[in-house]
Amino acid sequence: MNFNRCAPVVLLGTGMSVPTRVVTNRDLEEIVDTSDQWIVERTGIRERRIASMGELTSDLAAAAAMQALDAASVSPEELDMIIVGTNSPDRLFPGVGPIVQARIGASKAGACDLQAGCTGCVYALMLASAGIRAGFWKKVLVIGAEVLSRIVDWKDRNTCVLFGDGAGAALLGVGEGEDAVLAAEVHADGSLDDYIELPGGLVAHPATVETVEQGLHFVKMKGNEVFKYVNKVIPPFVRDLCSQAGLDLREIDAWVFHQANHRIIEGVLRRLEIPLDKAVVNLQKYGNTSAASVFLALHEGMAEGKISKGDKVMLVSFGAGMTYGAMIIRI
Ligand code: UT7
Repeated sequence: MNFNRCAPVVLLGTGMSVPTRVVTNRDLEEIVDTSDQWIVERTGIRERRIASMGELTSDLAAAAAMQALDAASVSPEELDMIIVGTNSPDRLFPGVGPIVQARIGASKAGACDLQAGCTGCVYALMLASAGIRAGFWKKVLVIGAEVLSRIVDWKDRNTCVLFGDGAGAALLGVGEGEDAVLAAEVHADGSLDDYIELPGGLVAHPATVETVEQGLHFVKMKGNEVFKYVNKVIPPFVRDLCSQAGLDLREIDAWVFHQANHRIIEGVLRRLEIPLDKAVVNLQKYGNTSAASVFLALHEGMAEGKISKGDKVMLVSFGAGMTYGAMIIRI
């Protein structure tokens, strides 16, 4: 390993992949006691993509990965590392990372998964950047990928209307000149471990007929607690991160939040006195895709011209743990 310490990090390309099947709020009215009006008013979500049977997290992840590599004209053999943020891997092990590594032919890359709730995207980007800066890697593919529809209880209206399936990817590499990562920080508070959890099927509650009957193998979320927590911690956190980077909040050109709820995005930006039109929002089309959502919004924001070359973009996420994190990156 040829150490090239403090190599500047750049974003080389992005990609995304979502299942073709669209499930609308009206479709959900048929299966749980909900309404399009409730879902739109409380979350902003109108539809989500749901994987077909047999379609796996690794399939979406590999497709997003290839798009990011193509966008950067980088071949899979050039990759040193693949990190996949996911909470819905195909199997607990092996991880999605090695499956993607083999699928795309990244013959020289290490590969692993990172599980940090929806914040996995920021954790993975931060680890990738740190590894590049330290000289361990030159090109790292960071992926957020989820097929949450398989671990959501389709009888629980508190959760099933919120989530969707999808994958997004960002290719980071060694650049020239200034480092694109202007600041990044992650936090965790494991005392709030019951806010969002999937309790059954592993060590705490090994799978039994009883755990299955009790639905312990499905996502549980105290949505309102999460809502209040996020609205409390995120505004001062991102304000502080901007100060660390020597930036005024108004110098952030675009805000890419975890796409959990339109009211969270609005509320946080209102507290920070930032106009809502600086936010990239695509949750109306995809719902909450957990560790993938920031990547989907970043990719679409760039593809649709809402984010341009040279822009300073704040990526913000929060989720199970509780965890939260943010990164300011120059595109
Ligand atoms: O990605 C990880 C991070 N997760 C999040 O960021 C989620 C954060 N939380 C949220 O986005 C919101 O809390 C939710 C969208 C999950 C819920 O919105 P809320 O305004 O906090 O609603 P609530 O949980 O306080 O529930 C209000 C009412 C309840 O009825 P009662 O007790 O007032 O009669 C719920 O039973 O809404 C009811 N409700 C529904 N009604 C129709 C809950 N889900 C539904 C539904 N359709 N799907």
